[in-house]
Amino acid sequence: MDKIRIRGNRPLAGTIAIGGAKNAALPLMTASLLTEETLTLCNIPYLGDISTLANLLVQHGVSIKWKGYRPNGGQDGRAVELTADDITSTTAPYDLVRRMRASVLVLGPLLARCGKARVSLPGGCAIGTRPVDLHLKGLERLGAEIELTQGYIDARAPKGLKGAEIAFPTVSVGATENLLMAASLAEGETVLVNAAREPEVADLARCLVAMGAEIEGIGTDRVTIRGKPRLHGAKHRIIPDRIETGTYLMAAAITGGDVELVGADYEPIATVARTLEGAGVEVSQTEAGLRVRRHNGRLTGVDVMTEPFPGFPTDLQAQMMALMTTAEGAAMITETIFENRFMHVPELCRMGANINVHGASAMVRGVRQLTGAPVMATDLRASVSLVLAGLAAEGETVINRVYHLDRGYERVEEKLAACGADIERLGDGS
Ligand code: UD1
Repeated sequence: MDKIRIRGNRPLAGTIAIGGAKNAALPLMTASLLTEETLTLCNIPYLGDISTLANLLVQHGVSIKWKGYRPNGGQDGRAVELTADDITSTTAPYDLVRRMRASVLVLGPLLARCGKARVSLPGGCAIGTRPVDLHLKGLERLGAEIELTQGYIDARAPKGLKGAEIAFPTVSVGATENLLMAASLAEGETVLVNAAREPEVADLARCLVAMGAEIEGIGTDRVTIRGKPRLHGAKHRIIPDRIETGTYLMAAAITGGDVELVGADYEPIATVARTLEGAGVEVSQTEAGLRVRRHNGRLTGVDVMTEPFPGFPTDLQAQMMALMTTAEGAAMITETIFENRFMHVPELCRMGANINVHGASAMVRGVRQLTGAPVMATDLRASVSLVLAGLAAEGETVINRVYHLDRGYERVEEKLAACGADIERLGDGS
């Protein structure tokens, strides 16, 4: 199993290209199930999670063509063409779904297009129980009959889905996306109240409009969809990854570096940038993207609470915590989206961090210097927080189980090495 070795305590300097957003690409790929015509997605990132979903879609009968790799080239970079002209299976098996929770996003499109879908329940995962009740209740409001049998969601809508008002009791990105897709092929009007406002949800909605759906209120918490009997093919460019952007902002900040993030957008990470500025990091917009630099001296501790967009994203909580480990003073980091999302804490403490967890909050008391150590990656964002800590630490850090990293960060060691980090991937047996 691959490991990553970092010899830390050197500032990053240079440029890093930001890829297409993983969490936008996943629902967009499942949207291909809504039409028999081809959906072309440009700016697709090459990641473990993307291949996992591609394998699931192929299993449903979708044909997938990957197009050229042009990191600095043409307008659209690499692209993928997905054609679901003949859906051969409406079952998403346990073996594929358990590898990635986002697989449940095939449920809405399959049900809306084929009138039935059987999708394995995703089950628990490292960061909590993560139920799918909101997805199911929403689909039932559209007239689906749903049964849970033998670990599977068995959903049927023999007469098609019918528009309705769905008020979500809590904000869910995945449930909003599943319902947006299902409602696009439902008869009549659907109103989603308390819908997720994440930029990835808005990106999906824009693609559905390009496919022929009528959607109002994109990017707000009240979205109205007028369904169509058929959707058609489209070409859509995926937004830049705001979580990758935020991660590299923090990587530059923790090392006291100066880095330009090419292709990054400011608006989706405005809350993060303002928080970082409060800690003593300068984030400015450039023609090509964003530039990040640390003001002179140590950072100062700032309190952070994760919230649905436009609040501070839970997917950057672990990285922010790594950043706060060497700040001056204390930082209270509160996680409100997922239970059990502090698995990085004991690993950061092994590197010399001073962190105490009390329920959903972690009190980080900054230390002058982290020290390298062998550590274990537990989930995607926790792993990258250990990379950040390793970049700042004195001495050598070896991160085990890096397959988590590859699920969501493309060529992370190459991007960091190009900015002067001493980082390398060690293959099996090293
Ligand atoms: C998505 C992102 C993930 C991010 C999360 C929150 C993708 C592929 N993943 O995950 O990276 O961390 O948004 O921004 O886009 N919940 C329920 N019932 C449900 C659905 C959700 O109780 O039916 C709860 C969850 O357990 C969690 C909260 O709602 O506590 C938010 O989850 P949700 O927004 O649905 O996250 P995902 O879509 O799974």
